[in-house]
Formats: sequence, C-alpha cells, structure tokens
Amino acid sequence: MMQNLKIDHSEGIVTITVSRPEALNALNLQTLSELITVLQQAYEHSDQRGIIITGDGDKAFVAGADIKELSALTHDQARAFAQNGQRLFKLIEDCPKPVIAAVNGYALGGGCELAMACHIRIAAGEARFGQPEVNLGIIPGYGGTQRLTQLVGRGKALELMMTGDMIPAEEAKTIGLVNHVVASQDLITTCRKMLSRILEKGPLAVSGVISSVNAGFGFEKAGYDAEADNLARCTTTNDFKEGTDAFINKRKPQFKGE
Ligand code: CAA
Repeated sequence: MMQNLKIDHSEGIVTITVSRPEALNALNLQTLSELITVLQQAYEHSDQRGIIITGDGDKAFVAGADIKELSALTHDQARAFAQNGQRLFKLIEDCPKPVIAAVNGYALGGGCELAMACHIRIAAGEARFGQPEVNLGIIPGYGGTQRLTQLVGRGKALELMMTGDMIPAEEAKTIGLVNHVVASQDLITTCRKMLSRILEKGPLAVSGVISSVNAGFGFEKAGYDAEADNLARCTTTNDFKEGTDAFINKRKPQFKGE
C-alpha cells in the first residue's frame, strides 16, 4: 500500500499519481522510494506496457523536492539526496516501456526534473514550469542541469536556471520543453491515446528507440556528478539557510553570497 502515490492499472497502462496535496505533491523521501518500487514493478511485469505520471488535483504536478526535508540536510546527505533522485529519474528515463508525463499544474524544481525524465511531456494549459532552486540558494539536483540543457539548449536552460523564472505551458512548448499543450479536462485522455498508439508498435522497437536515444546522453558524463557536488556545496552556505527559511516563513530571501 502506497502512502503518497495512487496507482491505476487499466488496458496495459499504469497511471501513477503523486498525491501529497498539502505540499503541492512535493517529493519527499517516502514518495521517491515509492516511485522506485512502482517503477521496478513496471520494468518486470509484461502486462504493464506503458506509464503515465501525473499529480493529484488541479494545482500541481509536483512542486519540487520537499523543501522542509531538504532544509535539514548536511553536505554529505545532500549529495546522497541528489544521487538518489538522479538514480530514480534515470530509472524512468531508461524504462524500456514508454513513459508520459501528464503535467497538470506546477512542475517546479524536482517536479520539472521528473517531467523531463519522462520520454514525452503533455501539459494542461494551466501548467507552469521552472527550476526555481536559486530562490532557495541551491541548484537543481535531480538531473535538471543536464536534461533541461538537452531539451531546450544551453542558453535558454541557463536563463531559466539562473533567473528561477516560471514559464507557462505554451512557452514551454515553444522552447521544446513540452511536446503538446491541451485543455486540462483532456489531459489524461490525450496521454492515453498517445500511449495506445505507441503500444500498437513493436515493443522491442519502441524500447530500442528509447535506449538508442539515451545512449547519446550518457549518465556517466561529468554533469550529473558536478550537479550533485554543487548542490551539496550550496547546502553548506548561509544563503541556503536563508533561502529555505525564507520559503518556509513566506518572506523574500536576502542572499549575501556566503
Ligand atoms: N516542498 C514542501 N512544501 C511545499 C513545496 C515544496 N517544494 N511547495 C509547496 N509547498 C507547500 C507550502 O509550504 C504550503 O504549505 P503550508 O500550507 O503548510 O504553508 C503548501 O504547499 C501550498 O503552497 P503555497 O502556499 O506556497 O501555494 P501558492 O499557491 O502560494 O504558491 C508555488 C505555489 C508557487 C508552487 C509555491 O508553493 C512554491 O514556490 N513552491 C516551491 C517551489 C520550489 O521552490 N521548488 C523547488 C524545490 S527544491 C528542488 O526541487 C531541488 C531539486 O532539484 C531536487
């Protein structure tokens, strides 16, 4: 029994709904561990042929890693935190079955990173995307520095990660972060229809496409390690204490570069 995920199986499609509405579906460690369990099952079970990942409610897909949990991490814990998330998201990216993100609302920080680890992103018109970690005095830690750059190019990725700006779904589509934007009431149906079309193809050919594309974006590349190191380094700073305290206490942070 999952605490923070709702799982639906029908017609070969597993729909995973991240459900922590009180925290806008933020990913705490319990949720990450549940996601790993569900993903491993999907790898193994031949009747689970495609996956949709979405968020509960109409406000958020996933609003990031859980900032309250994150704020307590030491340097070494932060590094392990990043590597743990990077490994999970790699499990999604490498899944031999098609995975679609149905982005129904805020996809921020770890939420945007979760969507980017999926093979295809379909968003509701109300969805908002961003990597706002700099507002907390840290950097993305679940592969965002790598995947955002791959999807939208270096210049736009740097802009989004340095400003922390949130962008609407249509703009996310224009820059290549999202494949399609649809009305929110059509979101899951559109994802199911696209998955059904993919599931009519040869499954080995589909998994061959996924693994060939991924082979060109090596996880072993230095970027992922640099990301985990830099996130860990940021968590030792006063700016990180200031940034997370400001978020939790709903005020504007004052960063000092120390
Ligand atoms: N972690 C923990 N709690 C969160 C959260 C998060 N990422 N995002 C929202 N919440 C909580 C809020 O603290 C609030 O809880 P309380 O009611 O107990 O105060 C509740 O969800 C509702 O949120 P808001 O009151 O803030 O709702 P809003 O409509 O005013 O704002 C928002 C919505 C703009 C999405 C805002 O919640 C927000 O900015 N959230 C944080 C986004 C963020 O910074 N994400 C990155 C996290 S760090 C990360 O993900 C690192 C990584 O790469 C792995």
